[in-house]
Amino acid sequence: MKKVGVAILGLGVVGGGTYKILTEHRQFYRDTQNVDIEVVTVLERDKGRFETLGVPQELVAKNVFEVVSNPDVNIVVECLGGITEARGYVLDALNAGKTVVTSNKELFCKYSHELERAAKRTNAGLYFEASCVGGVPIIRTLLDGVQANHISSIQGIINGTTNYILTRMSKDGMSYEDALAEAKKLGYAEADPTADVEGFDAAYKLSILSSLAFHTKVPFAKVFREGISGISHEDIANGNGLGYTLKLLAVGKQTDRGIEVRVHPTFVKNGHPLAGVDESFNAVFLTGDSVGEVMLYGKGAGELPTGSAIVSDIIYAATHEGSRYSTFKNNATADKDVKFVSDFESAYYLRLTVTDRAGALAKLAALFAKNNISIVELLQKSCGEDSATVVLVTHTTHETAVKNAIARINGSDVAKVESVIRVLS
Ligand code: HSE
Repeated sequence: MKKVGVAILGLGVVGGGTYKILTEHRQFYRDTQNVDIEVVTVLERDKGRFETLGVPQELVAKNVFEVVSNPDVNIVVECLGGITEARGYVLDALNAGKTVVTSNKELFCKYSHELERAAKRTNAGLYFEASCVGGVPIIRTLLDGVQANHISSIQGIINGTTNYILTRMSKDGMSYEDALAEAKKLGYAEADPTADVEGFDAAYKLSILSSLAFHTKVPFAKVFREGISGISHEDIANGNGLGYTLKLLAVGKQTDRGIEVRVHPTFVKNGHPLAGVDESFNAVFLTGDSVGEVMLYGKGAGELPTGSAIVSDIIYAATHEGSRYSTFKNNATADKDVKFVSDFESAYYLRLTVTDRAGALAKLAALFAKNNISIVELLQKSCGEDSATVVLVTHTTHETAVKNAIARINGSDVAKVESVIRVLS
């Protein structure tokens, strides 16, 4: 039976999950895959971690050199996160001819071209299923399952931490801070949760997924990004009252005007399949010209779901001759002829404080009309001594039209825009 030696760099949440699955399922993979996968070494400085996981002391390497020079290591699994150390270690492994499996979306998003070049030079494999959407097999689906198609759109909920926070805030009235603390405790959040709550994590993933979907490099810098840290209970409740659920949505589209890639909080109409995706669950919708719509749903974060994606890559690498590389033009930047759309179209929810005097609403409506923005719903929520809170939802319009309207409203004496949230239309 073929023997495959694995090294794990980093025994945090994901590395720990990977170790557990590999050790608990070793006999299962012998029986079903005809391959004996053994963890032969780990790199972890925290003694507490390898003791908790029951990793024998003799498997703990002193440094990365010991790992990449170990002839028993065939596959190096990188679960360190961050860039500086991980990038150097992954390049060391690839240069030594070891196949690399990584869960590091920031690393793959920013340096896939460099890593793939190194892998091709030494004929090593480079696998990254766990970098996007945890246990949901979206990378394999894009590489294999839907490769017959021109993909026109990929959209969904691709960050577990923010989905967990928004679910708890919306369903239990929990504070943002408490919900984030729970997400950290459950092992969903990144080491620095700013990456999650400010939308960086989802933007890295969207950059990778849309590069694969549209077969061209979609650089991180082209992804429009807005996080959830400024979201208030008041807006979540207003949205709920209007029949919407708030999600951090990632949208990638191939349009006549170019590629559109964006991550931002979005109200999704209840009844839409994405509105019911709660807690740490993620979901991705793909639209292909032949297959139509495909939806994948599953856990997007956590030790075992993400460990599942890593171990699937290990098994794939261990059971296939030759390596499978990405299917987009893997350069640092997009090709010159590829266009990106920044003035995208959406519907919008706005909350405003309106001066309470005759004609104020009429003046407000005129400011929207001047920017060709049509209103679907408008609700006066409360009226104080001299001002009222108004919420409204627009028809689909352009981002720039809304920005212009907001600037004009804020410059007027009739109203002030307190918050703006895009609505899935
Ligand atoms: N922090 C990430 C999330 C983990 O919350 O989705 C998986 O990438």
